[in-house]
Amino acid sequence: MIKILVIHGPNLDLLGSREQKLYGHLTLPEINTQIRKMAQKTKVGVEIFQSNDEGKLVSKIGKAKGKYQGLLINPAAYTHTSVALRDAILSAGIPTVEVHLSNIYCREEFRRHSFISDIALGQVVGFGPDSYLLGLEGLVNYLKREGSGP
Ligand code: DQA
Repeated sequence: MIKILVIHGPNLDLLGSREQKLYGHLTLPEINTQIRKMAQKTKVGVEIFQSNDEGKLVSKIGKAKGKYQGLLINPAAYTHTSVALRDAILSAGIPTVEVHLSNIYCREEFRRHSFISDIALGQVVGFGPDSYLLGLEGLVNYLKREGSGP
């Protein structure tokens, strides 16, 4: 069975109470339930990991090779700052989809640059929690087409 690692970066544990106008009312556990449902429906396995700690995210991705066939990641603020996260994704070498709840291209200037986008298979922004589901669907379709699997 195809296994996908889903990563939520810093401050996403605060969803539901954090800047609701931008990020909506759903909590992270509620979003995770939607992700798990979609994974079940499309018959793939998912492991979901959230951390506020850049090092923990880097270490988790560092161990992904051979264990997961794809990575779905909302790197949150580290999108715009982290060469370490970029290097971890490059070294894992697995197809990666970057997602954001908000449209990072129509916010502050500093959010327009992503250290991940040019090494990602694709990017989904601006659809709130649906960004995760659309990203997962695209990633799974890609992996099934490519015949990925353990
Ligand atoms: C975010 C966008 C980032 O710029 C921000 O730092 C976040 C959330 C999003 O999902 O829209 O924490 O990744």
